[in-house]
Amino acid sequence: MIQMKRPALLTTLFLSAFLMAACSSDKGEEAAKKAADVKDMVTESAKEVASTAKEATTEAVEKATETVKETAAEATEAVAEKTAEVVEETKAAVTDKAEAAIAAITPDAVSGKGKEIYDSACFACHAEGLASAPKVGDTEAWTARIAKGSEVLYENAINGFVGKKGTIMPPKGGRADLSDDDIKVTVDYMVSESK
Ligand code: HEC
Repeated sequence: MIQMKRPALLTTLFLSAFLMAACSSDKGEEAAKKAADVKDMVTESAKEVASTAKEATTEAVEKATETVKETAAEATEAVAEKTAEVVEETKAAVTDKAEAAIAAITPDAVSGKGKEIYDSACFACHAEGLASAPKVGDTEAWTARIAKGSEVLYENAINGFVGKKGTIMPPKGGRADLSDDDIKVTVDYMVSESK
């Protein structure tokens, strides 16, 4: 930047020399020659300064270009890394969600939890109609019971009840370890098999 001021300085010198030379009238011709020499010098210097400036500019531009390229490469790398990270995270999240969704459907609807519990806890009485228990699959025995509505059936299966003939359905079929929801899906299963 300081170099850029040189032409101005040189021009001033040239003008001073020219004026000084022009002032001495008897040495006019010599002065004119000197002035021409100075002018050449100035022109030369100016050219030099211009070329130096151009070189410096070119160098600066090259450096800047290189820096920009490096920065861009770094940024691209960082973006790629971050993208890969996000993709991994998303994948994991989606997998978790899918697993959770599958787990949420499985117990009742898909795995046949109702049938499973029935086979282990209710089958003993309800398969053969032991103690006058309504047999699963016996639509006649179930029609009136189903007509009472699911809530009543759930309630009676959970808390137990004594029928008109004094026959006893024990609370949860004697399986206190089963949750109310377990009993409900089991009743749903028994009902669906007895319609
Ligand atoms: C010890 C035998 C026995 C077991 C075990 C048993 N039940 Fe029962 N259950 C009965 C009898 C007996 C009745 C019929 C009572 C009546 O109406 O006279 C009955 C009736 C029912 C009814 C009909 C209720 C209504 O309101 O009509 C449902 C529902 C039922 N049981 C569900 C279950 C479920 C679910 C299980 C297994 C968790 C189970 N039972 C296990 C004996 C049993």
